[in-house]
Amino acid sequence: MIKVKVPATTANMGPGFDSIGMALSMYNIVYAEEIDKGFEIIIQDGNKQIPTDETNLIYKTIDFFYRNIGKDMPAIRLIQQDSIPHTRGLGSSAACIVAGLHIGNALSKSFFSKEELVQMAAQIEGHPDNTTPALLGGMTIGAMNASDMKYVKIKVAENIHFAVMIPEFTLSTELARSVLPKQVTIKDAIFNSSRAALLAASMITGDIDNLSLAMEDRLHQPYRAKLIPNMEAIIREAKSYGAKGAYLSGAGPSLIAVIKNVVAFRKEMAEYLNTLQDKWQVQMLQVDNEGAKVWINEELKY
Ligand code: HSE
Repeated sequence: MIKVKVPATTANMGPGFDSIGMALSMYNIVYAEEIDKGFEIIIQDGNKQIPTDETNLIYKTIDFFYRNIGKDMPAIRLIQQDSIPHTRGLGSSAACIVAGLHIGNALSKSFFSKEELVQMAAQIEGHPDNTTPALLGGMTIGAMNASDMKYVKIKVAENIHFAVMIPEFTLSTELARSVLPKQVTIKDAIFNSSRAALLAASMITGDIDNLSLAMEDRLHQPYRAKLIPNMEAIIREAKSYGAKGAYLSGAGPSLIAVIKNVVAFRKEMAEYLNTLQDKWQVQMLQVDNEGAKVWINEELKY
């Protein structure tokens, strides 16, 4: 039996569009084993939105992996325990891709290195800001070219708290990307490149007082705000409750605030969210600095 545990991820972190991402302490767990014939997919919390046929993303990724190594995929049973909410900007698709690659690697005894899986995952997803931190943990900064992806991983202090505001409504990445402009001004490009660089450097040095500025963005958040009722108001409120920085997580609709005072923030934010028409919940998470883990017959492999 193979067990894979994959963290949620928050992409962009404001200005690092399609480049910067971080793993969070929220997990999906997948069990996989060979069976005599066919395939079986069991969704443990009974979530009806997760397909149990060949369109299941973990299944599709395992199939892709086997095609890539030129072998037939064996008959398998998958058991999925999802905690990462779907289509909320918290990396649930990347978690499926990462789980599928690890399962394919372990089942086929291919022994691809983590580095090779990082490259494969980035190629499948098309941008590295969810899959790289999901595999490696921490905060990663990545840039792709035609043949590969270069990246740096930063360990993030575990005493920094990430308040994640998650709405009941969903937003597809496809729709969230469709509202982005084809061109931006040089002013906005400079605005973002300066903040993305400041964000990366500040996370290395621990200068989190820079984050209010360093998490600002003009490439995607202003356009996506139209799709997320109260996004700007929630970010404003978060800052007024002492958040060091706040931003749209990935393609949204979840929002994240970086905070120090967990108890006071949670209370004030929960009270504010209760005044809104849409239902939102707030969860306190931390960084996951280790990334996905794999057990084979209960023995931790990596
Ligand atoms: N960087 C991506 C985006 C993350 O913002 O569209 C979602 O896949």
